[in-house]
Amino acid sequence: MRAFKNLLVTGGAGFIGSNFIRHVFRKTGFTGRIVNFDALTYAGNPHSLDDVATAFGERYVLLRGDIRDASAVREAMNRFDIDGVVHFAAESHVDRSIVGPDAFVQTNIVGTFNLLQAARERGGAMQLFHHVSTDEVFGSLGPEGWFSETTPYSPHSPYSASKAASDHLARAFHDTYGLPLTVTNCSNNYGPYQFPEKLVPLMIMNALEGKGLPVYGKGLNVRDWLHVEDHCDAIWQVATRAADGQTYCIGGHNEMRNIDVVTRICALVDELAAPLASGEPRSSLIKHVADRPGHDLRYAIDASKIAADLGWKPSFDADSGFKSTVRWYLDNVAWTDSVRSGEYQKWISENYETRK
Ligand code: NAD
Ligand code: TYD
Repeated sequence: MRAFKNLLVTGGAGFIGSNFIRHVFRKTGFTGRIVNFDALTYAGNPHSLDDVATAFGERYVLLRGDIRDASAVREAMNRFDIDGVVHFAAESHVDRSIVGPDAFVQTNIVGTFNLLQAARERGGAMQLFHHVSTDEVFGSLGPEGWFSETTPYSPHSPYSASKAASDHLARAFHDTYGLPLTVTNCSNNYGPYQFPEKLVPLMIMNALEGKGLPVYGKGLNVRDWLHVEDHCDAIWQVATRAADGQTYCIGGHNEMRNIDVVTRICALVDELAAPLASGEPRSSLIKHVADRPGHDLRYAIDASKIAADLGWKPSFDADSGFKSTVRWYLDNVAWTDSVRSGEYQKWISENYETRK
């Protein structure tokens, strides 16, 4: 069992990173300090951890920094005597990678390289580098079968190609330099604090406001949906208990077609929120729009290795997970308003220097 004293979490102001930091402080008995190293891009929202900053005082440090800046990364690791890294920071949205792939190469590949170099330079002080990755590196499945730890890489989007490159670099640093490493490849997450460019929060927030719900193509693409809390638990189990060098696939055993996800969200918003002024059900807002180029048909995960080795399994099913998520977006209007209005970015520019 690894017990970290000073954990560097990159991208901790994003969706999964912020849930992970809260999970570690509140659910695991962790007694050390977490340094959240985050560039605070459009996807980084410091308000997502307001409660943690208040409750955990000096044990939680938000450090605005860019993983593309090798000296900033090195300085942070040495200054805070970092003995473990959990690396979330990334450009994470496939649609943005299609429009502008440069940032994906710089952050996801070069940024990961900078972190690996700095972690390696800390020698025996570094207990573990945990690299957080995606199932999208494996490409697309047909109607049958699952991705597992032995599936060959076959990424299609600039996002998944950049994540694949970062996975290979991480493993190369383990194999070549002996950097203690674990890797996880996870399916699509949903839950609180997700930026509303991704399918689930976009549909919830648009459905609430009576706006159109854009479904790409026929909506028949399948994703394996995992509640973010289950992902965070899996990462913590791997980071603290897995053997050096191991990779784990993480998934929710919860495959759904996009059209079914959107229809379910519409029904939940109808159930939990005030009806639309028109009296129509929210499903009437669904609009089939042009498909995403290179759109992967199906992702699904065989998570039997992490179940066998570490006893991990998801705790949310689709009913409990989606219902509690819709309720969270209804109940947390301060957060959704700050994201919708861009107010959180104003806070960033008032409290931190502008990003280089
Ligand atoms: P996100 O976009 O919500 O958050 C990314 C965070 O990284 C933000 O806080 C952003 O400010 C920060 N960041 C971006 N560029 C940076 C840079 N150059 N330097 C420092 N910080 C930077 O992403 P997410 O959905 O929370 O995903 C986190 C990680 O998990 C990513 O590595 C992603 O590939 C992986 N992942 C995501 C999913 C998913 O469904 N969201 C599934 C599997 C794996
Ligand atoms: P997304 O949340 O962007 O995650 P990823 O592309 O990493 O899987 O999209 C999930 C699925 O939903 C994907 O098949 C694309 C589709 N989608 C839509 O149909 N409409 C949308 O507005 C968005 C954002 C995604």
